[in-house]
Parts: sequence; C-alpha cells; structure tokens
Amino acid sequence: MNVTTIGRGTIGGGLAALWQQAGHDVSTLGRDGGDATSADVVLVAVPSGAISDALANVTGLQGKPAIDATNAFPGRNEQYESLAAEVKAHTNGPVAKAFNANLGSLYDRIGEQRVRPSCLYAADDGVRAITEQLIRDAGYEPVRVGGIDRARALEDFATGVLTKIGQVFYRFAPPGEL
Ligand SMILES: NC(=O)c1ccc[n+]([C@@H]2O[C@H](COP(=O)([O-])OP(=O)(O)OC[C@H]3O[C@@H](n4cnc5c(N)ncnc54)[C@H](OP(=O)(O)O)[C@@H]3O)[C@@H](O)[C@H]2O)c1
Repeated sequence: MNVTTIGRGTIGGGLAALWQQAGHDVSTLGRDGGDATSADVVLVAVPSGAISDALANVTGLQGKPAIDATNAFPGRNEQYESLAAEVKAHTNGPVAKAFNANLGSLYDRIGEQRVRPSCLYAADDGVRAITEQLIRDAGYEPVRVGGIDRARALEDFATGVLTKIGQVFYRFAPPGEL
C-alpha cells in the first residue's frame, strides 16, 4: 500500500517505520506539508490544534481515505463533533479513527507481547479494510467499535481513561482467545 503520513513525530514516524517493515511504501510529511496524490490512504498524526492548518498544506487530499490518530490533549475545535469530523471536512472522503488509543512510546515493544495487543478503531465502510490491514501490519489486532460516528467516544476514551492508566497495552477478545 502507498501511505502518506501527515505528521512524522512519535505517531506518524513510528507507524511509518512499522509499515515500512511490513512492506508498505510510506512517505512522511511535516508541518511544511506536501503532496498526497499518490497515497492510497493518509494518516493524520499532528497536534489537535494543528489539524486544519496541516491538512490545508497538503495537496491531493480530495476524496482520499484517511486514518485519524489525533487526540484532543491541548483541546479541540468544538465546531466539529470530533477530531475525525474535522479531518473529514478537509478530505471529503472516508475516515477512520485508529491508533489514537495506543501509545507510540510502546511501538517497539508490540512484537514482544504474548498475544497481539488490541487497537480500537471506528471507521467509515470505505476505509475499513485498509484500516484493519494497517492495524495488523503495525502488529495490533483491530477491534471495531462502530462507524465514524463513534470517533468522539474513542477520543474521550483515550484522553479520559487510557491516560489515567499509564504505559499499557490492552486486549479485547472473545472468551477463549485470551
Ligand atoms: N504520542 C502518543 O503516544 C500518541 C498516542 C495516540 C495519539 N496521539 C496523537 O497523535 C498526534 C501526534 O502526536 P505525536 O506524539 O506524534 O506528536 P509529535 O511527536 O509532537 O509530532 C507532531 C507532528 O505534527 C507536526 N506538526 C506540528 N505542528 C504542526 C502544524 N502546526 N502544522 C502541521 N504539522 C504540525 C510536526 O511537524 P514537524 O515534523 O515539521 O515538526 C510533527 O511531525 C496528536 O494529536 C496526539 O495527541 C499521540
């Protein structure tokens, strides 16, 4: 898959490395932006307050499938129902919320775990298969919580629950699979 990350820090750069190891062709963009025309999917991994500026600096986004990994730690633009909705207002394509509830500081330890850690995600149908593939190729097991209308719940879970627990992986699994 051809992936462009918008943001190349802990999350954008970290996932780019994992996906490259899995055989994907990944380009990373920083605050200066660039072009995403050739991407099959873009990952949005910038501070929440920079989403609109960052996407305005990237060309080739119209209709592009997007995976939004952002969280609202420094706050959010309340004009939008969720950060994912803010992303969608710029891309006008299918959007997924994923990787926002997984710590980037643990990316280098995913492979050491006894079972694959979970990665919660919510997605429009048009980007669901791509999202599940990229979650698996990063080393996690995808767990769907619903359509993109559940993005705000995932954002609130990450900031309101996960950050209170600390450095953890988690696993949601049916009985018999733990
Ligand atoms: N760190 C985590 O464990 C974690 C986990 C889940 C979700 N998240 C979320 O993922 C997002 C990225 O977090 P991170 O930890 O990867 O941050 P980070 O390491 O600070 O990287 C931020 C990236 O965003 C870019 N950026 C900063 N300001 C920008 C602006 N005004 N316009 C365009 N791009 C800008 C930076 O560009 P340059 O490269 O040019 O400086 C950099 O590549 C945040 O929303 C965060 O809440 C983080």
